[in-house]
Amino acid sequence: MIAVSQLDAEGHLQHLLTLEGLPAATLTDLLDHADHYLDAGRQGDKKHSSLLGRTVINLFFEASTRTRTTFELAAKRLSADVLNLQVAASSTSKGETLFDTLKTLEAMQADMFVIRHDASGAAHFFAAHAAPGVAILNAGDGRHAHPTQGLLDLLTVRQRMGRIAGLKVCLVGDILHSRVARSAIHGLRTLGAAEIRVAAPPTLIPAGIDALGVQVFHDVDAALSDVDVVMLLRLQKERMLGAFLPSLGEFHRDYGLTHQRAARLPEHAIVMHPGPINRGVEIEGDMAYGARSVILEQVNNGIAVRMAVMDRILGARS
Ligand code: NCD
Repeated sequence: MIAVSQLDAEGHLQHLLTLEGLPAATLTDLLDHADHYLDAGRQGDKKHSSLLGRTVINLFFEASTRTRTTFELAAKRLSADVLNLQVAASSTSKGETLFDTLKTLEAMQADMFVIRHDASGAAHFFAAHAAPGVAILNAGDGRHAHPTQGLLDLLTVRQRMGRIAGLKVCLVGDILHSRVARSAIHGLRTLGAAEIRVAAPPTLIPAGIDALGVQVFHDVDAALSDVDVVMLLRLQKERMLGAFLPSLGEFHRDYGLTHQRAARLPEHAIVMHPGPINRGVEIEGDMAYGARSVILEQVNNGIAVRMAVMDRILGARS
């Protein structure tokens, strides 16, 4: 695969494929820029013009509710023309390759593609083959990365806790299949989190994860002691080919966020989940939007973060 640089020679973002390797200054600038859009929105100023005349194409080869709609809203709030390709109804189902789909849509003068695909590396493939000046945003590729989700998670933590440096964060659940976990871990490390823990049954921990600088726990109660942030992850049954778990009930008992476990968390600790939630599995259902939950703030922050990324990439070139 051709190597792709996310930053151009002057250090400006030209694609967003992964948070891995992006400098702290770039991440902080994106979070600050997202905060600027949130502030403007609170003052009734929701619509901006920096992508006027630009075309953004959403290409979702996998199911999505939050990510696709918030990418669309973000592009529209920056005044771009937005096209959503219905992949199930597109020529992919007739055997057209990813490369030919890209070239066909590029011929329509698209400036930016937002792509979600079940193959890890699909966004890199697009970026490697895109025409010069065409930007690629990764909206989730297989188990690999989900960088705008990572950014919205960082933004939500920073809003609630005032900082990221020095915090203790615990990710609980299906780490093995989670691109959300990988992006969060890279972002949290770069911005100086003190401790990043992952808690899951051994079957749901990827080999070699210690290399990312995380501590692995199989006892969730030990993992949650003293944490500032709990990040719950969905059991990704659609990516599980074998028997990873005895039963969902057992997972909930051993790893789910129950009222009992939540009561033992420090008073200030927040609970996050990227959605979609399996109620009664990762979290006791009535806590999903409870006092500690910032799950809906994550959704709203997703719009601002995606606006920030699109504006930094395309707006700067206008
Ligand atoms: C996640 C995804 O698709 O990676 N959802 C999301 O984008 N908010 C996580 C998941 O599907 O569990």
